[in-house]
Amino acid sequence: MAGWNPFKRKAPTKAARAETQAQPSIVKPLIREAHRRANDAGGLPRFNTTASDQMSGRGGDRFSAVRAKLRHAFTPSQPVADRRLFAGRDDVLKTVIRAIEDQRLHVVLYGERGIGKTSLLHVLSQAANEARYIVVYTSCGANSNFDETFRAAAAEIPLLFHSGFSPTAAETEKGSTLADLLPSEPLSPRKFGDLCAKLTGTRVLIILDEFDRAESGSFRRDVAELIKNLSDRLGRVQLVLAGVAADLTELVEHIPSIRRNIFALRVPKMSEGEVMQIVANGEREADLKFDSQAGAFVVEVARGSPYIANLICHHAGHAALDQGRATVSPVDVASAVDRAILEFQGRIPTPAQTQVRRLFDQGRQDALAMSARAALAADGVFDGRDIETANEITARKAQDAIEVLVGERLLRPVQGEDVNQRYAFVEEGLPTLIWMMWAQRNLNREAPPAAPARTATAVS
Ligand SMILES: Nc1ncnc2c1ncn2[C@@H]1O[C@H](COP(=O)(O)OP(=O)(O)OP(=O)(O)O)[C@@H](O)[C@H]1O
Ligand SMILES: [Mg+2]
Repeated sequence: MAGWNPFKRKAPTKAARAETQAQPSIVKPLIREAHRRANDAGGLPRFNTTASDQMSGRGGDRFSAVRAKLRHAFTPSQPVADRRLFAGRDDVLKTVIRAIEDQRLHVVLYGERGIGKTSLLHVLSQAANEARYIVVYTSCGANSNFDETFRAAAAEIPLLFHSGFSPTAAETEKGSTLADLLPSEPLSPRKFGDLCAKLTGTRVLIILDEFDRAESGSFRRDVAELIKNLSDRLGRVQLVLAGVAADLTELVEHIPSIRRNIFALRVPKMSEGEVMQIVANGEREADLKFDSQAGAFVVEVARGSPYIANLICHHAGHAALDQGRATVSPVDVASAVDRAILEFQGRIPTPAQTQVRRLFDQGRQDALAMSARAALAADGVFDGRDIETANEITARKAQDAIEVLVGERLLRPVQGEDVNQRYAFVEEGLPTLIWMMWAQRNLNREAPPAAPARTATAVS
């Protein structure tokens, strides 16, 4: 094999072929693969689309166009911004719009990570824009502070809508905004509220997404005070806050003073129909078909999470295309689950993973699967009753499952005032990982998986 160059696009010479034929049979497949790569433009993976989202024109297969569309059709790492891809949530959206429009309330949307809060906010913003609202969207960060956040918001509101300036005033004509009226000292909720009270002829929605990320207590307090201030003065500015939280008080402190002024909504899990709509929207966008069993698998595995649904559909679509098929079948969903598990593993500390894997390997996965199911249904924190209902099992079996996992240090008790002791997995990502691992092992690659309660015999 002297002089072999994997980057050269040349067919092997006669002498090289003779040499290949003379090799012992175990080496032959390796040499064949080496030649295949040598003839394959270097064989290294390439990007299929250019930075401007055009097909790169080389290295593509007959499904390159479908692949490109697939990327847009299922976006597990991004919120949905395109209305055509936004599935379900009609009731949530309708309720929020009514609260804003009819009751003139401020809105707080809360819920678990990946449940679809930001996507909902995007669609709500579009609806508000259509109704000529001025919409200011801000994503909060650890260092968010009142002055910066609301100065930036004021800069989006034209002076034209300030009752003290006529539309023909010089300031209005040169495109000034409310920010131009702000004092140089740090902005207070009262000052910003005063300014908002002078607005006329428009309505403003100020959206503060990822509100849970803001670490400053004074920022949260000032926002609560602003809500109170705006409500008392029938202002034309309404706030929409969104963030990860199991309940409202976890997200918004000082809630007693503003409870009457806000409409709070926990973004629920998606129904099976809504998850199916994610699949159907993606099929339409990507020119790809999910056979009915593959669709049923996605619904079963997603358990109401739009994030998991997008992730599995994305991987399953690519798995089908890799096999030269434009129809996704259950086997592709199974391989998507394998890939998702690999991804989740990277996000969870190794000791907890090892523990879980050991229980699976020992065939003691029922306690894990049943508790994971309850955790996923209850946004992470659950009690024995939740395990009972999620799995349709007896109280005794649910209690056994808890004891096994507390003993294994995979569940921890959560302090609270509830009558029943509540628990959470020691790592946030564990319920999803466990559920995927359960699906991976129980997923008959030809038929939809049976629920753990139905397959569970006894909790080991
Ligand atoms: N209505 C929907 N239709 C289709 N896909 C959705 C929908 N809602 C959310 N998704 C998908 O679910 C995933 C999570 O959505 P999103 O980012 O909106 O959730 P989030 O609650 O804001 O998450 P986080 O708590 O991490 O901020 C994304 O992949 C998004 O594409
Ligand atoms: Mg978000």
